[in-house]
Amino acid sequence: KEIFLKHYKMPDYFFDTVDLKFSLGEDKTIVCSRITVLPRVEGVSFPLILDGQDLKLVSIKLNGEELKKEDFVLDSRHLILASPPTKPFILEIVTEIYPQNNTSLEGLYKSSGNFCTQCEAEGFRKITFYQDRPDIMAKYTCHVEADKTLYPVLLSNGNLIEQGDLEDGRHYALWEDPFKKPSYLFALVAGQLISRDDTFVTRSGRKVSLRIWTKAEDVPKTAHAMHSLMAAMKWDEEVFGLEYDLDLFNIVAVPDFNMGAMENKSLNIFNSKLVLASPETATDADYASILGVIGHEYFHNWTGNRVTCRDWFQLSLKEGLTVFRDQEFSSDMGSRTVKRIADVSRLRTYQFPQDAGPMAHPVRPHSYIKMDNFYTVTVYEKGAEVVRMYKTLLGSSGFRKGMDLYFKRHDGQAVTCEDFFAAMRDANDADFSNFLLWYSQAGTPLVKVTSSYNSETNTYSLKFSQQVPPTPGQPVKDPMFIPVAIGLLDSNGNDLPLTSVFHEGLLHSISSNGHPVSTTVLRVTKEEEEFVFHDIPHKPVPSILRNYSAPIRLDSDLTDDDLFFLLDHDSDEFNRWEAGQILGRKLMLSLVADYQQNKPLVLNPKFVNGMKSILCDSSLDKEFIAKAITLPGEGEIMDMMEVADPDAVHAVRCFIKKQLASELRGEFLTTVKDNSSAEPYEFNHHNMTRRALKNTALAYLASLDDLELTKLALNEYKSATNLTEQFAALTAIAQNPGEARDSVLADFYRKWEHDYLVVNKWLTLQAISDIPGNVKNVQRLLNHPSFDIRNPNKVYSLIGGFCGSPVNLHAKDGSGYEFLGDIVLQLDKLNPQVAARMVSAFSRWRRYDETRQALAKVQLEKIVAANGLSENVYEIASKSLAA
Ligand code: ARG
Ligand code: ZN
Repeated sequence: KEIFLKHYKMPDYFFDTVDLKFSLGEDKTIVCSRITVLPRVEGVSFPLILDGQDLKLVSIKLNGEELKKEDFVLDSRHLILASPPTKPFILEIVTEIYPQNNTSLEGLYKSSGNFCTQCEAEGFRKITFYQDRPDIMAKYTCHVEADKTLYPVLLSNGNLIEQGDLEDGRHYALWEDPFKKPSYLFALVAGQLISRDDTFVTRSGRKVSLRIWTKAEDVPKTAHAMHSLMAAMKWDEEVFGLEYDLDLFNIVAVPDFNMGAMENKSLNIFNSKLVLASPETATDADYASILGVIGHEYFHNWTGNRVTCRDWFQLSLKEGLTVFRDQEFSSDMGSRTVKRIADVSRLRTYQFPQDAGPMAHPVRPHSYIKMDNFYTVTVYEKGAEVVRMYKTLLGSSGFRKGMDLYFKRHDGQAVTCEDFFAAMRDANDADFSNFLLWYSQAGTPLVKVTSSYNSETNTYSLKFSQQVPPTPGQPVKDPMFIPVAIGLLDSNGNDLPLTSVFHEGLLHSISSNGHPVSTTVLRVTKEEEEFVFHDIPHKPVPSILRNYSAPIRLDSDLTDDDLFFLLDHDSDEFNRWEAGQILGRKLMLSLVADYQQNKPLVLNPKFVNGMKSILCDSSLDKEFIAKAITLPGEGEIMDMMEVADPDAVHAVRCFIKKQLASELRGEFLTTVKDNSSAEPYEFNHHNMTRRALKNTALAYLASLDDLELTKLALNEYKSATNLTEQFAALTAIAQNPGEARDSVLADFYRKWEHDYLVVNKWLTLQAISDIPGNVKNVQRLLNHPSFDIRNPNKVYSLIGGFCGSPVNLHAKDGSGYEFLGDIVLQLDKLNPQVAARMVSAFSRWRRYDETRQALAKVQLEKIVAANGLSENVYEIASKSLAA
């Protein structure tokens, strides 16, 4: 059943207080809920519809009186009271649930013996009957009782107000959350857990106990998470003036979790891979993700919890904003440019394809079948770009004013994306023209720019034209409001001072406090539009879309020489990287054409030189260098082709990699040598950046499959003191099939057999391999003792990893598709959310040649026809077939 934004209706009943009582058991768990219900309009009776799924109703009382069968309607999804009282009343419902059998990991379930919950988006209805929608905000208490030996720790939201022992070896705890919250923020945890404790004193003097809970042996691995949490708390005070609002903040790490983490009020629950880290078992990338996600969930306390969403269509209100906040946090903790490059790459690699495929949807979707399918890169990452555009337009202080007004107006409320827009606009008296289209139009806008210089008038003109491609359900689009940050470089590579720009018959001053600026933000709002800069003494080279000021595809008339010039000189470091990427994309596309016509591949020496000068520029940040010498991904190139050809793109990318490696062999060897260090591991910018560059160089060298270089990598593997370097060496060696690969993979497994997070990396590394016919290996690994189809992390490692190798997923014999089709059906019976994520790998099947299309279609049709298919998988598979 499809649900539409335009059908939103205010609830007829509000819930004021909710008192829950859980009796946790091995065979069954009993949940009692006592709700005070307030009719929205007193004196008028409407039916009260409660959501409920997989629940056994034991009893229901209204104002203390047990209801009889004829007083309510019960179906597989609802409990309906046809005409409840028209004055406030009390509803008491007892249900029985079976968390030990819950493999969907939604609602109350068990993970390695402990009880835990995941309620967002609609999991609370698997715990008890409720109006399970975010605009129902209530104050909760939660009484939990369980066996004291099996479940010594009992946690829920808010403050612990009472605890004690009961008969039969049981005990209880009573929690009270003073803040109103929607049901999706409810959480409960019970089990054998130990905490790392610390204290954070807020700037107004509140002493907050911080506890990170995990199984005993993992406590040493929570130091980085605790450090990240404290840094996030401080940062939110400094940058947004936002303080924590309770005396206790708990984080629990669980090994079985569908997503990354969850911001339940004062009781965040995390996938353990985003909490646990030690130098030997986690990479720099893991450390960085932990920092970002701990920040993300903490930041939700204000953007999500204190101010929440009116309905699930507004998800980006909290997610786009909170991703933006976590990106800014990570930028301030490390290198801003490198973080920006990583975030934009992510957008291009994952969001652009979604925006151009059958699941394309606006940042605020218009409809869904299953909300879980809309926790997407569009809602999260494109949503964060939309928030970033406000900041680009308003500046830091204007953005802060908008945030302040947003909290002033909406603290304690469930609101919409327009409310956020209105706060930004009103706090700054801003004209945002048609900016709201970013929330309602799907598709990545394509912006073309043509430039011309007039030496008589000393003017420089940029003509913009934009086009938003059609997407499912949206054949025609309006032009969008696109902020384009721009600078002009003189022939020495310096920024020209900008003073005024002529636009639509008016000359606008763009200086700031009387001083010329080096970057200005043009407001492109029409299908076609021209901007003319005055007082430009010579023909400049434009640096367009600095810092990637809008989530668009840009097509400019810059020549290769202009791009090499920008790569060398642009003061905007993001655009230096971007210039290299544009050159890389052009080069790859032209070599792909050569490859398809059986022409010999030749690498442009200018490109090699450009890469060389970046690699050898000691003034540059090393992580920036690592990013700048990394070629655009295969998916990005396939995306730009009429018909995606995974074999050609793969062959070309390998060719360029090897060619660079052999032509710059000396430079890469020096890079590895100069950036080796025996210092103990530290997660700081200096060390991380060194490792990043060294590992990138090592990967280039090992691609040559030359005995001496394999030895070098083996030596790095053996001497490494941390996983970042050890795993990079392993990855470098594993590029080439052969004995070295087999033995080092076996060695690594022996070493890490006991650590499930490290073993998952070992699974991914093998699954993602481009070695021809790798589907066979992956099938074998399904039966490996380390694999378990019920654990999402393992599925993402092995099956998700396999989908990360285009040549094998799209193997011409259809073996990849068939494998994936079978697995999706198997997964769907256990965990529909995870199955839906896997089936998404099919969604762009129409991008390939006819043979591949036919093979993929067979699998999608097989899936859609399966008996008892979940709504999750049905939505993605059927939309993929339809588009
Ligand atoms: N709100 C969580 C976050 O911080 C994600 C919850 C995902 N839930 C789901 N059913 N997909 O991003
Ligand atoms: Zn979030």
